[in-house]
Amino acid sequence: MTSAIQPPGLKAGDYESTSPEQTEAFAERLGRDLRPGDRVELLGTLGSGKTTFVRGLARGLGLDPNSVHSPTFTRVHRYRGEITLVHADLYRVDSDSQYEELGLEAEEEASSVFVIEWGERLPPDSPPATLCIEIEITGDLTRKLRVSRGPTAPDR
Ligand SMILES: Nc1ncnc2c1ncn2[C@@H]1O[C@H](COP(=O)(O)OP(=O)(O)OP(=O)(O)O)[C@@H](O)[C@H]1O
Ligand SMILES: [Mg+2]
Repeated sequence: MTSAIQPPGLKAGDYESTSPEQTEAFAERLGRDLRPGDRVELLGTLGSGKTTFVRGLARGLGLDPNSVHSPTFTRVHRYRGEITLVHADLYRVDSDSQYEELGLEAEEEASSVFVIEWGERLPPDSPPATLCIEIEITGDLTRKLRVSRGPTAPDR
């Protein structure tokens, strides 16, 4: 049905992962093509692999994947490096003031890559994503990864 190997660049497509390591490697490759200002939304049910994906993105950006943890209580984590990765998790966000915490200052938004778990919970007036990754559980170790490009996705 779908391939595990994606082309380089920010391409749309459906892919199949057969292990957590493969999901992480997929995200790592994508992470190498991300630039400051990019915004990646991760959609998918509990335990689908969103945080696993963020670990790969971190690696692709040259950051330590072991520093990636679900920001359940703080809601936003920052992994600093040449490019900072800002990691938000909307699972427990439920009030307007909590959403306000997720609005990045323009300067930070322009200089970081922003990744958001539970992107389906973002308010409708949020800035458009560069890329959306929808992760579907298809088996114990298998996941469908659907990559789509947002309206502002650059050609690269
Ligand atoms: N192909 C796969 N890709 C990613 N994760 C997988 C895969 N197969 C099995 N898993 C397992 O699924 C789980 C995914 O956990 P992870 O924390 O990444 O999910 P999550 O979507 O962030 O969950 P939550 O909704 O709680 O934030 C891990 O235990 C991982 O080992
Ligand atoms: Mg998670």
